[in-house]
Amino acid sequence: MQPLMERITGALAAVRNPRTGADVLAADMVRDIATTVDGKVRLTLLLAADDDATLVRDVRQAIESLSGVSDVRVDVRDPAQTEPTPARRAPTAAPPAMNQPQAPARGAATGGMGRALPVMDAAPKAPPKVPEPVAYPQLGRIIAVSSGKGGVGKSTVAVNIAVALAKMGKRVGIMDADIYGPNLPLMLGVDAAPSVVDEKIIPLEAYGIKVMSIGFLIEKEQPAIWRGPIVMKILTQFLKDVAWGQLDYFLVDMPPGTGDAQLSLVQATQVHGAVIVTTPQQVSVGDALRGVKMFERTAVPVLGIVENMSYFENPETGKPIAVFGTGGGARLAQECNLPLIGQVPLDPRIQEGGDTGRPIVDAEPTSRAAKELEAIAQRVVERLVSIYGS
Ligand SMILES: Nc1ncnc2c1ncn2[C@@H]1O[C@H](COP(=O)(O)OP(=O)(O)O)[C@@H](O)[C@H]1O
Ligand SMILES: [Mg+2]
Repeated sequence: MQPLMERITGALAAVRNPRTGADVLAADMVRDIATTVDGKVRLTLLLAADDDATLVRDVRQAIESLSGVSDVRVDVRDPAQTEPTPARRAPTAAPPAMNQPQAPARGAATGGMGRALPVMDAAPKAPPKVPEPVAYPQLGRIIAVSSGKGGVGKSTVAVNIAVALAKMGKRVGIMDADIYGPNLPLMLGVDAAPSVVDEKIIPLEAYGIKVMSIGFLIEKEQPAIWRGPIVMKILTQFLKDVAWGQLDYFLVDMPPGTGDAQLSLVQATQVHGAVIVTTPQQVSVGDALRGVKMFERTAVPVLGIVENMSYFENPETGKPIAVFGTGGGARLAQECNLPLIGQVPLDPRIQEGGDTGRPIVDAEPTSRAAKELEAIAQRVVERLVSIYGS
């Protein structure tokens, strides 16, 4: 049989990028192929924003089908943020072992003493490492609630799904990852400094759910000046060092957008599914589409699209009034071949409840909005069961 590496490149040469017509190897979309003796394969796929996200699956499947391959890992990277050519990288003595990403060749340019001065280090920066996603089995199913932009109701949807799941008897936790707008304390009416027991932070509780927010830890007026790596550190600490206990579902109120912070968060953590929130407007839908693509690239299943502020119910006639246009959520769902799992009406009580710490699912459970949010929670559970089993 041919050596594994040759068979891998052969398999990659058969995967065609439908956008360009070229195969992924010829198109220089594949970097850093590494194999181990026991058949683990790891590579980086450079996927441009307009490339089809299904290429990740195609590449994985092509390699998985080779005999002798036990495991395939495809790290996806944006070519716009990747060095154009690997040729300039400092040569290394031996190929790096898998799972042990190579340290940047510090000191290469300082010469002489063999000691690196990190600040003055002139060596080219190594591309950011893609971490191995960490699993947190005690958190149950981890659900990221995401939106392309802020203000579409991401936190509202996350909080109400959480409360609805708790009403169904599930053990639920929720955390702010949107640390620039940590509004869980306000929306759930909890705000206190959490206590620490045995070096673990004890989450606060509201409506039967456990809550952790960066808002509990910072002064209200303090501007959030943290940068990406610090954000990741805080969030990782929330996952690891908070005494969540055993949960069934864990919701993450993601930062809006699809930038590096969002990407590294889903790459660092084993997220079981994402819920994308949009409003019916076209601009919001475009942003949400990028959100869907981000999760697809990182192989996190999108559980469904929620269209929020879908319509306003005329209090006199009960007829829906389309305030922000119509059909955005449905269009997005169709375009991405994903289910539209709910359309939440505009309801002033949602905002009041958000400002006074009473989620509508608890405060006005018979309202149409609350019923829709409960149905969304139910569909999220069903989708997770269909993907992972019960
Ligand atoms: N369906 C809705 N009807 C009325 N107000 C809503 C609705 N959804 C969200 N809001 C309000 O809109 C504002 C933004 O919602 P929020 O959940 O904070 O958005 P995000 O987390 O996406 O920034 C909040 O004041 C919230 O109470
Ligand atoms: Mg929010």
